[in-house]
Amino acid sequence: MKNIVVFGATGLLGKPVTKALIAAGFRVTVMARNPELARGLFPEANVIKGDLSKPAEVATAMQGQEAVFMSLSVTQTEKETDWHAEEQGIETIIELAKQMDIKRLLYLSSLVHLYQDMDNFDWWVFRLKRRIVKKIKESKIPFTIFYPSTFMESIFYQSKQGSMIALGGESKYPLYYIAADDYARQVVNSLKLLKDENREYVIQGPEAFRQDVAAKEFIRHYSKQKLRTMWAPMFMMKLMGFFSQKFNYGYHIVTALNNYPEEFEATQTWKELGKPQITLKEFAERMSQREG
Ligand SMILES: NC(=O)c1ccc[n+]([C@@H]2O[C@H](COP(=O)([O-])OP(=O)(O)OC[C@H]3O[C@@H](n4cnc5c(N)ncnc54)[C@H](OP(=O)(O)O)[C@@H]3O)[C@@H](O)[C@H]2O)c1
Repeated sequence: MKNIVVFGATGLLGKPVTKALIAAGFRVTVMARNPELARGLFPEANVIKGDLSKPAEVATAMQGQEAVFMSLSVTQTEKETDWHAEEQGIETIIELAKQMDIKRLLYLSSLVHLYQDMDNFDWWVFRLKRRIVKKIKESKIPFTIFYPSTFMESIFYQSKQGSMIALGGESKYPLYYIAADDYARQVVNSLKLLKDENREYVIQGPEAFRQDVAAKEFIRHYSKQKLRTMWAPMFMMKLMGFFSQKFNYGYHIVTALNNYPEEFEATQTWKELGKPQITLKEFAERMSQREG
């Protein structure tokens, strides 16, 4: 399998996967709303301008492809009743894939969405993610679904606000933080390995930390700037969520991350796709050396 189209390549987690696919010699097509940005990021890719809300543009990007990678998200400002790239966009891709000769669908899901219905927790974003997994499975097209634990990148790009790393409530269980580059290598290996079989891979990194401990480990090894943690109680996050869509999203994701009883489940993934190598210390050191 050589030809692959990536949807969501310009995103936080789509970028490292797209770069790894190109480096591994795949013929990569990227459909992006901002093609100039995508060409700058991936000069070797075939970049097509397109929006997932426009089926004709999606069809053009999928023409002649063998595999489709979907690295999409529900953003913090989306409402349940909105159109979602991660739901209706993916439905368009699946319908087109059934009509075209697509041999594999690859989808980035998340491990923490399995917290849905535990402890009476209910969040429409997790219900959406569940529906997509179901639709992919019903498509009868061979699939690979990735369920990653928390990415180390989320500490730097999502929790870090200026010189503070934001934390909320009490983190009850250690999370197996994974670096996006390790995950990207596993995605490439899965494409080299799989024929017609379906696979669901739990993606976890080499060490587990509670979120407050992970933040302190990152701070200890991040030399570019002096950082501190900033903590908010859950009742305050819940209250702010009544006034702001963004805080409502934050309240739900933090509640799920704090309470999902994550255990190590990546034995099979490591056996088939290789063991992740990057520790949180190494990740923080790498981020310290970044330009800009
Ligand atoms: N953060 C974590 O620790 C973690 C852990 C496990 C799983 N995950 C999962 O990872 C997934 C991806 O996250 P991410 O942070 O990489 O997301 P992201 O940065 O928001 O990227 C989303 C991508 O989708 C593209 N997109 C959005 N709407 C589109 C449309 N209408 N047409 C075409 N493209 C569109 C965006 O393109 P533009 O550049 O044009 O906006 C972007 O490339 C999420 O579903 C999340 O649940 C995250």
